[in-house]
Amino acid sequence: MAWTKQRLEEVVRDRLGEAKLVVVANREPYIHTYEEDDIRCIRPASGLTTALDPVMRACGGVWVAHGGGSADRATVDPFDRVAVPPEDPSYTLRRVWLSKAEEKGYYYGFSNEALWPLCHVAYTRPRFDSGQWRQYRRVNRKFADAVLEEVGDGPAVVFIQDYHFALLPRMLKNARDDLVVVQFWHIPWPNREVFRVCPWREEILDGLLGNDLLSFHVQYHCNNFLDTVDRAIESIVDMDRFSVTRGGRTTFVRPQPISIDPAAVRAWLPPAIEGMEFSMRKQFGLRDRKLIVAADRVDYTKGIPERFAAIDRLLERHPEMKGQFVFLQIGAPSRVHIPAYRRLNDKLDTMADEINWRHGQDSWKPIVFINQHYGPNRIFPLFRIADACVVSSLHDGMNLVAKEFVAARDDERGALVLSRFTGAARELTDAILVNPYSADEFADALYAALTMSPEEQQQRMRRMREQVEENNVYRWAGELLSEAGRLVEARRTVAEIQERQTAEALA
Ligand code: G6P
Repeated sequence: MAWTKQRLEEVVRDRLGEAKLVVVANREPYIHTYEEDDIRCIRPASGLTTALDPVMRACGGVWVAHGGGSADRATVDPFDRVAVPPEDPSYTLRRVWLSKAEEKGYYYGFSNEALWPLCHVAYTRPRFDSGQWRQYRRVNRKFADAVLEEVGDGPAVVFIQDYHFALLPRMLKNARDDLVVVQFWHIPWPNREVFRVCPWREEILDGLLGNDLLSFHVQYHCNNFLDTVDRAIESIVDMDRFSVTRGGRTTFVRPQPISIDPAAVRAWLPPAIEGMEFSMRKQFGLRDRKLIVAADRVDYTKGIPERFAAIDRLLERHPEMKGQFVFLQIGAPSRVHIPAYRRLNDKLDTMADEINWRHGQDSWKPIVFINQHYGPNRIFPLFRIADACVVSSLHDGMNLVAKEFVAARDDERGALVLSRFTGAARELTDAILVNPYSADEFADALYAALTMSPEEQQQRMRRMREQVEENNVYRWAGELLSEAGRLVEARRTVAEIQERQTAEALA
């Protein structure tokens, strides 16, 4: 049976019963910011929030997140809560406030200068700083307090997101052993040799083993995690059941690839794309040229310089392609207080300038680099009119841009050039798969995308669309929350037996 929003709602109602659903993610799905005297609500550039928002709309519950917007405090009630989505509220956003020092140490520091590069094989060295680590621990504690407040006294499923909260599961379990705690790690888990260099590896692993269920996108990352635990910490690892037992408690480790809501992507497309296409072509100087599009956060894991280098190589090898296409890179500024990210921004500007100078002719430039965050209202129509889309991460847990591009192509056209090192490459096997480290291979892939016949585009796109339609985000959430529901059920049975035994003993 297909997974839909309705089916997810039913499953959550049936399986979770009385249990409250509390989601924890560092990034909030709606950010309120001041723009002069007005308050604007924006949606961040984050695959995680894009995927979870439709799930929360379907299930209801509370999303606990860092309130990072300049107008976030001005928009909450006395309990730091705000109903979202603003236009049609269906769940609660609970904001947690962080001081500048906490944000610096926990978010910019340990999460994004230590864990992020440690888990991605992108050859950026992780930085381990004990001050940042202390802030990380402190902020995990702060989130634990907020979650416990939201949970109250009753049963609950706490669904934690990502690497910002490795210590939170254990903290929650120490306070409330009866809670069902599930975590999804949205980024890769490295092999044990890589993880070994982390000075606080035991505390991190112990924290994660506070989960009842820990999930990654792909089996390979589950195996890496089990292997890391096996070497680093006292526990029993069961490779047949994919579980770890420590101190008498078991954590199950399961793959569950995340996805999108394809209908939500289509809903952003205007009924008549032609009018919008005309203005977009004008804005980016496309004329009747082919369009290759890419949209990412400006992050060193995304392989953006490799993409520019591949355009350069393509034009060296095929000078006849000059003036025939435009490569449009939308790059949302990200984590800009971290030096590695600032350096990347500068590098991209310089590279685009050099390549444009080398190959440009008259008013034509091969690369248009827009260093701005574009919302879904602008990105999805661009995906819909492009001839090709490029996703070239050096390493990526999943990458939802690839799936969004496919979902936007209701005309069954367009070619997808996709890095082999993304989780998405395991599902979207009809993309043109590339190794982004090889400029030659990458340039060939771009050429193949630009010259692919409409018939072949259609065949490939049709299969990819079926894949995304079937393995949508409701399946991801439905399967994870069903598992959580089974754990809730098991807790209920244990509690009932204990109650009966106490009553019998007292009788
Ligand atoms: C990745 C992470 C998410 C994060 C997103 C955007 O997808 O897995 O947890 O939200 O990047 O990054 P940011 O640091 O802006 O939240």
